[in-house]
Amino acid sequence: MFERFYGLSGSPFRLSPDPSFFYGSRGHRRASSYLQFGLYQGEGFIVLTGEVGAGKTTLIRSLLQQLESTKVIAAQLVSTQLDADSLLRAVATAFGLVVKDGDKAHLIAQLEAFLVSLVPKGSRALLIVDEAQNLAPEAIEELRMLSNFQLQNRALLQSFLIGQPELRLMMRSSRMQQLRQRVIASYHLGPLDADETRAYIEHRMKHVGWAGDPKFEDEVFDLVHSVTGGIPRRINTLCNRTLLAGFLSEKHQIGVRDVEEVISEFNREFGEPATEDHDLAITRADTGVLVKAAESMPAMNSGAPMVVAEPPNLINLERRIMGMERVISITVNLLRQVIGMKRSETVLEKRKVP
Ligand SMILES: Nc1ncnc2c1ncn2[C@@H]1O[C@H](COP(=O)(O)OP(=O)(O)O)[C@@H](O)[C@H]1O
Ligand SMILES: [Mg+2]
Repeated sequence: MFERFYGLSGSPFRLSPDPSFFYGSRGHRRASSYLQFGLYQGEGFIVLTGEVGAGKTTLIRSLLQQLESTKVIAAQLVSTQLDADSLLRAVATAFGLVVKDGDKAHLIAQLEAFLVSLVPKGSRALLIVDEAQNLAPEAIEELRMLSNFQLQNRALLQSFLIGQPELRLMMRSSRMQQLRQRVIASYHLGPLDADETRAYIEHRMKHVGWAGDPKFEDEVFDLVHSVTGGIPRRINTLCNRTLLAGFLSEKHQIGVRDVEEVISEFNREFGEPATEDHDLAITRADTGVLVKAAESMPAMNSGAPMVVAEPPNLINLERRIMGMERVISITVNLLRQVIGMKRSETVLEKRKVP
């Protein structure tokens, strides 16, 4: 919508994890090195965690693009509370096997035969399980069993477990002790810092041909960083809406006031306390309900899946935490100023003493 107005060749802040937009922040680069190191080992588990929207899926896609597809046969599955049996089936299907209705032993034999068949071709298998925090403990155990497959002392399958911070907690539990021993690299992907947030925004804008229209005031970047906590997905949502608002009011210069207006618009749309309907949606934890909510807000469909994809109570909590973070940072700055003033007063007084 706003692309033509700003002379852009595409939408800069889409929420799809498109690797062509990849920006290598320090965290993303380090995570990528860990993953590459892990891949090089060719066995065991590699664990990548991070907040929703931190860029895990984007990172994996960007890594996969760099891999030689004939050498590494990668299969991806997104876990939605898979139990042990359905996990095995999902793994087999993800590798392109035709799964017949058979018993578990048959399925395992089928998988093993497939993995062994890759060896003479000089290929190996990589299984990527996204949203792995949803795996049932029995399903994780099943994955561990798969990682036991070997041929002449060589592991036949390597797995990436990608997930939200809960995955880190899961991994620490005593039940996971055996799996932990097979983790050869793990990394927690943190948020972007303030400088990176600016570089990220500019990077995405330049990728669609931005040459300075609109112009962003310097302070805009700090505000976006503090409001989004440096999480790329939230940055995308906020910037997308800000550009839309800029276009609607035909602005070629975007300032702090403009971003603040968009933030209060978000707050007006989603800041109301949870109604009974909302509560119902949360207790049912039914994505269908939330999707329906999204459909009834046409303005948000293009701009803010971030908000609709999460239960309203989480959004409120997140917002409160972000508010608290802002208050803390303002307080710290004020305290610093007071300390600075006190120091200079002391220096002046000392100078006055004859
Ligand atoms: N390093 C990055 N470079 C470019 N875009 C990114 C980066 N990290 C995240 N994004 C963007 O943020 C959004 C969420 O990223 P995603 O990979 O889906 O997060 P996660 O899988 O951690 O929930 C996507 O729109 C993606 O394009
Ligand atoms: Mg993801």
